[in-house]
Amino acid sequence: MAERWTPESWKTRTVKQMPVYPDRTKVDAVVQRLSTYPPLVFAGEARRLKAALADAAAGNGFLLQGGDCAESFAEFHPNNIRDTFRVLLQMAIVLTFGAGIPVVKVGRMAGQFAKPRSADYETVEGMELPSYRGDIINGFDPTPEARIPDPERMMQAYTQAAATLNLLRAFAQGGYADLHKVHQWTLGFVERSPAGERMRDLANRLDEALAFMAACGITAETTPQIRETDFFTSHEALLLPFEQALTRIDSTTGEWYDVSAHMLWIGDRTRQPDGAHVEFLRGVRNPIGLKCGPTTDPDELLRLIDLLNPANEPGRLTLIVRMGADQVADKFPPLLRRVQQEGRVVVWSCDPMHGNTIKSSSGYKTRPFERVLAEARAFFAVHQAEGTHAGGVHFELTGQDVTECTGGAQAITDHKLALRYHTACDPRLNASQSLELAFLLAEELKSARERRDADRRAAARAAE
Ligand code: PEP
Ligand code: CO
Repeated sequence: MAERWTPESWKTRTVKQMPVYPDRTKVDAVVQRLSTYPPLVFAGEARRLKAALADAAAGNGFLLQGGDCAESFAEFHPNNIRDTFRVLLQMAIVLTFGAGIPVVKVGRMAGQFAKPRSADYETVEGMELPSYRGDIINGFDPTPEARIPDPERMMQAYTQAAATLNLLRAFAQGGYADLHKVHQWTLGFVERSPAGERMRDLANRLDEALAFMAACGITAETTPQIRETDFFTSHEALLLPFEQALTRIDSTTGEWYDVSAHMLWIGDRTRQPDGAHVEFLRGVRNPIGLKCGPTTDPDELLRLIDLLNPANEPGRLTLIVRMGADQVADKFPPLLRRVQQEGRVVVWSCDPMHGNTIKSSSGYKTRPFERVLAEARAFFAVHQAEGTHAGGVHFELTGQDVTECTGGAQAITDHKLALRYHTACDPRLNASQSLELAFLLAEELKSARERRDADRRAAARAAE
């Protein structure tokens, strides 16, 4: 029997990656204040996402999760929110139209503020400073003062998340996401890229499909899915006092939900089975993710699944595999086989970002587009070999024209990284690279679906 869970039971476990606040009483006061604030999401929405993820686990859907590595207070602007939302919508259209599979859209947005760090200290401009841990914890400025953890930052993060979510809801439900507007989504700089051209072509074909559907009586009036969409939010549940303050009992079911986002995940550095982050997330009913890096051991993964999804509920658990392009072919199959053998239902998602970060010759942290694509392709190939469903992808991306990842059709070279390197944390794909990737993944998904349909037909014929 698992021990009794409460929103605070994580405090009895070892907590990794937790900032050391100078004054604990101030943290308690902020948690107390936040715990009286309105929820950011409804439990019913989290259940709807879980149902959509259950379909993805069963092979009838695909999870598209993406957004900033870390949102920041300084970059908080409606245009940034709009552009990231827009590129995710475009990618979803490419995948849905190209592969004929429903796409579940989940932003790394409206709460993705806290960052795990590999060291407590970092050297910036020759100065040894406490590491920057995300705007919800301390400041990015390279001064000792800015780097002191400040609990009041949680209040600002809450406010920014609420305002971001409000705009996302308006975009998703208020007409912006109408399929008749796909032409208008393409951003200036993307329009001129090869991906922009393919997008225009796709939008033309979509117009034809919509005209045909309208002639058959299927319009935005009869079918709201044409003019609005579901869009969910997610972040790494790293800063546990914040998550605890936003954990509430859902009055409809009497169950606990973390209402700071629809989906929460556990990072690769905080997935110890007896650690605080696993303890916290095992008790909330949201759909959750678990990052699986190259050190993930199959037995330990099974133990984590037992803790996080003891009832084997479909849609509850997404395993986000992030091995790196050169390790995925070796490290992923043993995990996949073990989980399948044990009959555990999960969404298998691929994060081709976090295992492919390198330092460029110009000194910037970057990710070569080719390696990102290579890891995603290898992930699909493993699923094909094992007869399982590649259920989703997880990207760090932005709708802005940044130069943070090298390569892609724009051929961003090492020495061009300095042009528009804006991230406060990890390098992100820009809108053009993101779309290019979506087109390539749609081809993988389409052939996987065609193979599966052919297998099903063959099995049906054999049974006749
Ligand atoms: C992240 O998703 O930003 C992250 C830190 O990933 P990981 O835990 O997989 O390293
Ligand atoms: Co990151």
